[in-house]
Amino acid sequence: KILILDYGSQYTQLIARRVRETQVYCEIHGHEMAAEAVRAFNPQGVILSGGHQSVYDVGAAELNDAVMALGVPVLGICYGMQLLGRHFGGTVAPSDKREYGRAEIQACAGQVGALFEGFVEAGAKSTVWMSHGDHVEMLPKGFVTTASTLNAPLAAMANEATHMYGVQFHPEVNHTDNGERLIHNFVRTICGCHGLWTSDGFIEYEVERVRALVGDDKVILGLSGGVDSSVVAALLHRAIGEQLTCVFVDNGLLRLNEGDQVMETFAQNMGVKVIRVDAEARFLGKLAGVSDPEKKRKIIGHTFIEIFDEEAGKIENAKWLAQGTIYPDVVESAGTKTGKATNIKSHHNVGGLPEDMQLKLLEPLRELFKDEVRKVGLELGLPHRMVFRHPFPGPGLGVRILGEVKKEYADLLRRADAIYMDELYASGHYERISQAFTVFLPVKSVGVMGDGRTYDYVVALRAVETKDFMTATWYPMPHDLLSHIANRIINEIDGINRVTYDITSKPPGTIEWE
Ligand code: XMP
Repeated sequence: KILILDYGSQYTQLIARRVRETQVYCEIHGHEMAAEAVRAFNPQGVILSGGHQSVYDVGAAELNDAVMALGVPVLGICYGMQLLGRHFGGTVAPSDKREYGRAEIQACAGQVGALFEGFVEAGAKSTVWMSHGDHVEMLPKGFVTTASTLNAPLAAMANEATHMYGVQFHPEVNHTDNGERLIHNFVRTICGCHGLWTSDGFIEYEVERVRALVGDDKVILGLSGGVDSSVVAALLHRAIGEQLTCVFVDNGLLRLNEGDQVMETFAQNMGVKVIRVDAEARFLGKLAGVSDPEKKRKIIGHTFIEIFDEEAGKIENAKWLAQGTIYPDVVESAGTKTGKATNIKSHHNVGGLPEDMQLKLLEPLRELFKDEVRKVGLELGLPHRMVFRHPFPGPGLGVRILGEVKKEYADLLRRADAIYMDELYASGHYERISQAFTVFLPVKSVGVMGDGRTYDYVVALRAVETKDFMTATWYPMPHDLLSHIANRIINEIDGINRVTYDITSKPPGTIEWE
């Protein structure tokens, strides 16, 4: 396994994903990781991430002595390379020109070495992604230059004898050609890690771990039908069968037939114990007359917790609460200044439980990235559509019906959205889009159908592409497809006579309309 020390780069998680793609387990830790923890982790190799500081800044993050004492191969990326450069007696200096973006590197003849095998041939050029102000100016003793660019004569360095490597560019980002090959060379060849990190290996290991941990105790899980909680349900069912009880709260704000599909997949097909709570009336009752988006969110969240607590309280001898926490939830919080990981996902499906229940947390996906969660889900036999579903917000259609939520609106919206999704699947666009959905606008506009005039509601179609949901661009949907979808919605749903397509990116818009 590989240890990644985080020096604050925006790309640290990408490094971890590239390492995992070579089927090798890795963890990200803060650069100040305690010596004891470093030794206990016992990695076969270490990667030092980039960071925004300069190694000469007052208070700049330092190399971790315990890590250097391990005697295992080290790869420093960007800031990580500069730390190595300075540590071994070289010098680091600010560049005249900050380098940001694509650059051509040339591998130095005769010096390609183990890291660059298959990445770039000696003398040949390759595109890499640069993002730095400083660079190593004078090589430390024992190192050779292995690659250079126009602006950075020392774009990579190596000491093959001590297995110390530095690259000024970012092999972990997609813009670096063959970047995955460089990571593979480091992890598999230089560090000698074996490719043991696979979905079936993970499942086998986790099933045993959960069995040992839980013993004969009972476990409760809030099942939402989303990817993470679904995969947890399937995994725990395999591990502990009947000892698992899932609580699925139907809040009346789900998509068309969603509740039935969840019951079919889990209860009928897999034999998972699921308590379905039909709480539509209770949610809609509390939402009546409320149109402020934040108030709606709060009501939906609180009502969910109340109901979940009531149901969980009925399950005797429950000792564990399972959650779909995944690795990005854990590292994001670990990266904060306090260094304290917040363990509870501030997620709609479990908001908090009464103190006196004293449930212990069980988080079987805590070490996985989303793409790994999906692979595990498929391996466990979950339907492809469920595993690759777009994210769906906790408040559901509650924030997609603008203003006051009414059952009539939810029913119209569900049907329109189902048509939209059908057509996206059928045309192959669903998988290219990060998130798509329909929004209900509670205004009426005039239309004409046949010989008659109509006066009905409007829906908006939304589709965006995004990597992290922090920024997003609207999806360039083919016009003929839009036209086909609009026709179907208007013809098939009595009550909607106008369809619009949202062409707002984020920023300035948000993805949802509320
Ligand atoms: P926005 O609208 O903020 O959405 O651009 C970004 C992502 O977050 C989802 N989202 C939510 N998810 N509870 C959730 O669980 C919420 O209240 C909520 N609001 C937005 C949204 O669907 C998108 O993926």
